[in-house]
Amino acid sequence: MKAAILTGGGDCPGLNAVIRGVVRTIHNNGGQTLGMLEGWRGAIEGNTIELNPNETDEILPKGGTILGSSRTNPYKSPELTEQLLETFNKLGLDCLIAIGGDDTLGVASKLYNDHQLPVIGCPKTIDNDLSSTDFTFGFDTCLNTVMEATDKLRTTVESHRRIMVVECMGRHAGWITCFAGIAVAADAILVPEEECDIDELCERLKRRKEGGKHYGIVMVSEGAHLKGATVKQSGMIDDFGHVQLGGIGKQVAKLIEEKTGIETREVTLGHLQRGGSPSAYDRVLGTRLGIHAARNAIAGNFGKMVALRGLKIVAVPLAEAVGQMRTLYPEFMDEAREFLK
Ligand code: F6P
Repeated sequence: MKAAILTGGGDCPGLNAVIRGVVRTIHNNGGQTLGMLEGWRGAIEGNTIELNPNETDEILPKGGTILGSSRTNPYKSPELTEQLLETFNKLGLDCLIAIGGDDTLGVASKLYNDHQLPVIGCPKTIDNDLSSTDFTFGFDTCLNTVMEATDKLRTTVESHRRIMVVECMGRHAGWITCFAGIAVAADAILVPEEECDIDELCERLKRRKEGGKHYGIVMVSEGAHLKGATVKQSGMIDDFGHVQLGGIGKQVAKLIEEKTGIETREVTLGHLQRGGSPSAYDRVLGTRLGIHAARNAIAGNFGKMVALRGLKIVAVPLAEAVGQMRTLYPEFMDEAREFLK
């Protein structure tokens, strides 16, 4: 079998674990794996490297992706799609394993449905918002990064009797913000799934101060809403039509200071959350997904995405997995609220 693998969309810790899992499994079954560079761009341009199992052993602890990534969309024009299909044939590939989020896997699903390209998908999103899989790799490392950073912020806000607003990633879903908020004993958690009533939030923070808590931690998702308005970082739109987010943290901090009179600061954790070496959990999850992606490819079980369901890795139809955002389950905010009164 001659397989190709690519990583698309935002990077995250654990991508290299998947790559290693794929390369080793294909190799163990007598096959060969090519890495396509910079996501779908490499697949269009035929920009590839040979991957071998010994070299990929070394990449396991590395964050990011050795293949590079991009948000290139081969369906932006029919010419690009055609070029991608030609490249696939020219390289004599038997299958393409795409590791990515909703955009990357949406393309993979279309290539399978419309052009019968033998593809396998592997779910990746730092936001943990892909449906059909319980957790995505990278999410655990990200939570630890947010937790460590916020624990450090806590010591300074405690000393200064301030409120600290911490802006986390999470475009449409509050998984990172809610889980990290629980992990750092936050005083408020603002997620995209719930519109924030700033007056109620400020009253709560004042009550907490009067009750003897002299500082506060407010966790907020980049996609959280204040009176229905999403705060945009810039007018920049990517190939898949997503606007760049960011800035809600600053806005919330300003309003809190104005309305409570408590000195307030803000930190946007940004891309720190996607960086660094993967945690043990993410290395294991990424490795397992890579092994199963390759096994499905070898078995000819195309048009599928490998997914974590409970403790098992299963294969689900790609078409089912893409196109529907998995927002934060309400029970997590419900549990978090025990500490947010
Ligand atoms: O893909 C997830 C994500 O990390 C979002 O949470 C964030 O809004 C976006 O990517 C940032 O994208 P970029 O790396 O292109 O700035």
